[in-house]
Amino acid sequence: MPSGSVSPIPLPSSHRAKIDTCIVTGCSSGIGKALSQLIASKGQRLVATARKLSALDYLPDDNPNILKQALDVTSQTSVDAAIAAALQRFGRLDVVVNNAGYTLYGDAENASDEDARKCVETDFWGMVRVSKHALRILREENPKTGQQGGVILNVSSMGGRIAFPGNAFYHASKFAMEGFTEALSKEVRPEWNSKSYPFDLAIY
Ligand SMILES: NC(=O)c1ccc[n+]([C@@H]2O[C@H](COP(=O)([O-])OP(=O)(O)OC[C@H]3O[C@@H](n4cnc5c(N)ncnc54)[C@H](OP(=O)(O)O)[C@@H]3O)[C@@H](O)[C@H]2O)c1
Repeated sequence: MPSGSVSPIPLPSSHRAKIDTCIVTGCSSGIGKALSQLIASKGQRLVATARKLSALDYLPDDNPNILKQALDVTSQTSVDAAIAAALQRFGRLDVVVNNAGYTLYGDAENASDEDARKCVETDFWGMVRVSKHALRILREENPKTGQQGGVILNVSSMGGRIAFPGNAFYHASKFAMEGFTEALSKEVRPEWNSKSYPFDLAIY
């Protein structure tokens, strides 16, 4: 990405200059893994999540600021359990990163309903599930341990703004993510001190 094209995403002002609690979905590889390593290296509290816990072996077991947690974003039970575990350990969430996602390659016409729905279920509905539960935590649980509010970052894509052949259900999911995120950010009341942002990634 060209340097200077990305503005820092601001935390609500009262969240700056202190230890934040971040939860990241899809930390087994790629961007989620790199982000987890970065957050851990900065001494922030991290809830690193993955479908298989063994995929988080790259993180230490004995760091009190790190919770490794199983999370499949297609399961409401799993989302609820992961957020409950994060609250039990750290008492709050400040930054929620919806990173888990994948693309389904191939012509739309030839994709099975099952495969297409699984892609949208993960990339769009998974993000919705986590965002809705997390927003309640930012608004109602965070005040019990300090400042109300926080930030929800939804990892979108250039493919959430323009579409190419061969990835129709991925694009559909990311376009939906962009719309949901924009609408949610306009629904959040200023006094909740919370924001939701799309984070449009593009690899050049
Ligand atoms: N890399 C790029 O070029 C690029 C560009 C634009 C946007 N993005 C976005 O960036 C995000 C991360 O992509 P990546 O490139 O880092 O890909 P990646 O290495 O394949 O990582 C995807 C992650 O999502 C997880 N995941 C898949 N299904 C899940 C589920 N049901 N529940 C929980 N986690 C699940 C995977 O876990 P498992 O190991 O369990 O499958 C993996 O940890 C995605 O949302 C992607 O759309 C990537």
